[in-house]
This record gives sequence, structure tokens and C-alpha cells, in this order.
Amino acid sequence: MKKIEYLRISVTDRCNFRCRYCMPEGNKEFIPHPEILRYEEIIEIIKAFTDFGVKSVRLTGGEPLVRKGIEDLISMISEIPGIEEISLTTNGFFLSEKVNRLKKAGLKRVNVSLDTLNPEKFTYLTRTNRSAFFRVLQGIEKAKEAGLYPVKVNTVLIKGFNDSEVEHFVKFSEEMEVEVRFIELMPVGGKFFSEEHFIPISEVKAIIEKSFGKLIPKKVKKMGPAKSFSVTGTGAVIGFIPSISEHFCSECNRVRLTSDGKLRLCLMSDREIDLKAILRSRSYTFEELKNEIGKALIAKLGIDGIEALEKLGCQRKMFTIGG
Ligand code: 5AD
Ligand code: SF4
Repeated sequence: MKKIEYLRISVTDRCNFRCRYCMPEGNKEFIPHPEILRYEEIIEIIKAFTDFGVKSVRLTGGEPLVRKGIEDLISMISEIPGIEEISLTTNGFFLSEKVNRLKKAGLKRVNVSLDTLNPEKFTYLTRTNRSAFFRVLQGIEKAKEAGLYPVKVNTVLIKGFNDSEVEHFVKFSEEMEVEVRFIELMPVGGKFFSEEHFIPISEVKAIIEKSFGKLIPKKVKKMGPAKSFSVTGTGAVIGFIPSISEHFCSECNRVRLTSDGKLRLCLMSDREIDLKAILRSRSYTFEELKNEIGKALIAKLGIDGIEALEKLGCQRKMFTIGG
């Protein structure tokens, strides 16, 4: 049976940014606080998952660094036997001020979302102000200084918006010594960008190979959707996540926990198991939690994300899933 080794946990649906493809402007529909899992509840769930072979945990949001005491959660997770790696996906805004505490608490790696290298476009896309862009860059620098290696940068491709920046991102990867990973835009949680904004990874690879020469595949260390390449003639390492154009469901090694305690078997399928209801029931036992997780992991084997997306669509908004 395929192993699920990787659990992504959305710790909050709140965010200090309002990226156009992720969250509606003036969004008021946040999950009420009592519905958000408490840290003790998250820990209980992770403990149950380690019994099924989960070794690696990634914290996401919304923006995980807006949740109070996130470093305490990281320390608690790092004490769980069986957990070997804790990572974080962030918009980078609070990184420079928090990274040393996060590292001390046990954080191993960080991915920073950055979709454009142009400050004006950044302001437009994230609906923030100019200074936010420079804070994110500073956050990336500080993360490297703190020894969170390798820092990865997530770049969602949007036609007519950032496809002109592909070469710039390759140079950025070399100069900053970060791995830039290009991600295909997914029609998840309502279409803020429509299909005409979609760019397949194959186009991006062609742009890179035309300017820089052949992409050389790196040795695969881990299962998962991202494929990394070195760019000939540069020191750049670039990753690709062809979420839509390549069918990688059979290689999927992860499940997701939403901030309101739903276990999501696939990013693109709204099929969820309410773990919070189990945790908060009067007759709660750890055994029951493990049983439900075990059943869910078997059910995951039968899920095909692209098919689910085509048949049913995905209603849950991205900021409540965490990417
Ligand atoms: N398509 C692809 N990636 C997305 N993300 C958020 N919304 C989308 C979308 N519609 C990415 C963010 C971040 C990660 C958590 O998910 O840019 O890097
Ligand atoms: Fe916030 Fe990330 Fe969504 Fe942008 S993409 S609004 S930074 S959660």
C-alpha cells in the first residue's frame, strides 16, 4: 500500500495578504475561532498519524505566522516521536522577525510564496503595499541566515501576469540561492483567475531551455509532485509542480488537515472527514481517532483529484486548505 508520510496542517484561514487567486477582497467569511483546532487537538491528531507512518509535517494557512504562539506549536510537534521534519509555507511577511524563534522551536525548512519580482505587480496581486514586497525578500534572506536550508520559493504561474518573468526567476534562483518552484494555477475555491490565465509547465520549461539550455533532472529524494532540475550554465535549481497538466495522483503521499479540523484526502476533492467532531465528542478515545484516520487513508487510494475536480469542482476556498 502506498504510504502517506506527509501531513499538511492549515493552522488558520486568516491572512495579512489578500492574493487575488486565493482570497476575495474584503473577505469576511473566516472560520469562527471556536471552530479552529486548538494546539492540543492538532498535537493529538499528529500523534495518531505517526502510527500510520507520517514523518513530516508542514504548517500552512491562510498565513501560519499570523497565528499566536506558532513557535509553541512547533516545539510541541518536535517532541512527538516519529516526526522527523517540520516545515512551513508562508507569505514571508513576518519571517524576518520570527525566523530565529521558529528555528529554535524546531522548524527545519521554509517555503515562501512569491509570484512576481516586480514590486508594483506584487502590490497588485497581494493587495498589500510596496513595503510588503521588500519585507518578503528580507524574510527569505533571514531564513537562509538562520540555516533553514534549502529555502524554496513558490511561484504560481499566471498568464499575462508573470509569464514574462520566468527568466528573471531563474536568475533570482541563482543569485539568492533558493529553489524557485513554478506551480500551475488551480481552479480551486472559485475562479478569481479564469482558464485563460493558465500556463502549462511545459511552456515554462520551453522558455527556460530556450534562454539557458537544457534542464537536467535532479535525483529524486522524495515522493511527491514537485520535480527539481538544474539549469545548465547557471547555479539555479528550479522545481515544477504540474498540478493540472500531469496526472500525479498515483504518486501523492500527503493528506491535509484544515484549520477547522477536517481531514482532506485530496487538495482538489471536497471529500472530508470531520476529525474535530471525533475529538470533541463526549465519548472520545484515541483509538477511535486512529480508526477513522485508518479508514480515511484507505479511502484516499480510490481518489483521483482531476476527476473529482471535473465532476464536482472544489468549493472550499484555497485559504482554508493551505495549498
Ligand atoms: N493555484 C495554485 N497555487 C495556489 N496557491 C494558492 N492558491 C493557488 C491556486 N489557485 C499556493 C500559494 C502558496 C501555496 C500555499 O498555495 O501561492 O504558495
Ligand atoms: Fe494569504 Fe497565501 Fe492566500 Fe496570498 S495566497 S492571500 S499570502 S494565504
